Amino acid sequence: MPENDKGDAMTVRISSSRDAIRRMRESMMNNAEHAALEFLESEHLKWSAVGAERSAAPVETVAELVGAGGKRIRPEFCISGYLAAGGDSGSDAVIAVAVALEFLHTCALIHDDVMDDSSWRRGVPTAHVRHAADHRTNQWQGESRRFGEGVAILAGDLALIYADDFMSEAGPVVAEAWAELRAELIIGQHLDLVAAARFTSDPSLSRIIARVKSGNYTISRPLVLGALTAGRADLQQIFLEYGQAIGEAFQLRDDLLDLISDTKILGKPARLDFEQHKMTLLLSLAIARDPEVAALVTTPDGSAERLRTTLLDSGICDEVETQISDLVATGTKVITDADLDPEWRDELIEMAHAVAYRDK
Ligand code: IPE
Ligand code: IPE
Ligand code: MG
Ligand code: MG
Ligand code: MG
Repeated sequence: MPENDKGDAMTVRISSSRDAIRRMRESMMNNAEHAALEFLESEHLKWSAVGAERSAAPVETVAELVGAGGKRIRPEFCISGYLAAGGDSGSDAVIAVAVALEFLHTCALIHDDVMDDSSWRRGVPTAHVRHAADHRTNQWQGESRRFGEGVAILAGDLALIYADDFMSEAGPVVAEAWAELRAELIIGQHLDLVAAARFTSDPSLSRIIARVKSGNYTISRPLVLGALTAGRADLQQIFLEYGQAIGEAFQLRDDLLDLISDTKILGKPARLDFEQHKMTLLLSLAIARDPEVAALVTTPDGSAERLRTTLLDSGICDEVETQISDLVATGTKVITDADLDPEWRDELIEMAHAVAYRDK
């Protein structure tokens, strides 16, 4: 066989094994989607039968957000971690873990939108905004805002309960990692609130917050849960190192997109981090370099466009981009050196890029 043909045959073989693992993962992702929707339908039926108007509204709120789409990053990393660890593609346990992760994320989003006073999520009005509008339209008693937020708190809690229900199917092997994941998310969200309130530039704290509130539950912990479900606790360290780096890159991209993208593409309000004084790495670095930026963020009106131009002209975005590419390099190195099948090494490296360089 001429040299070139050999190379081509190799390429075809590599891409067909990559296709095979992707097809397997896609089929498992479809199973997870199906399991979540079927469960929500049965919950809806059950709680509609209470015999009181709107009894199933919290279930509907959860179902609406799940049904509005999303990138499904957490289930995808969980199933990838499981398959990369040699897990059997017919397992129900990993499907349950994947569904649990998406329900936990649903809880986090509904509550986050209340905390961040956000009006859009996944291209539709947020849960608390919809329920407040419902209260207003019906001219009910009390404050519409408080009512909307009350329903959103309950719907978020319900999503968390659903996450735990699914997780209990996965058995004791994941119990500790799951408990840590849930608590860490809360601790991270609290740090995010405190940093926004204090409004003191601290780049290293901003990086901790990015990992603890978001990066870890998005990448490293789903991968670890996948590996544990496959019975491969030995992969924990590698997945943690890769996942912490790529998870942070995920959140730094989220923070950058808030500044440079727009609401239509994101499906959630752009520039909200500035309205909410979020002490992201981007803002921490910008304030450390130019204290005037802090005044622009806290000036109530009229400075939003000036702030945006100042930040875009400041070179801060390039600094965050460098941080993201360093993190991707770290994650890539960990996976390149890991004892994994070559197709999974390539796949995880490609997934790292997809997450770090996404546009929404
Ligand atoms: C948004 O997560 C919330 C964060 C943790 C930053 P995603 O960007 O994964 O949101 P969806 O699930 O695709 O909507
Ligand atoms: C929230 O981070 C992370 C969680 C949902 C736990 P953000 O507040 O930055 O997420 P978005 O930008 O609203 O999606
Ligand atoms: Mg938010
Ligand atoms: Mg937030
Ligand atoms: Mg954000």
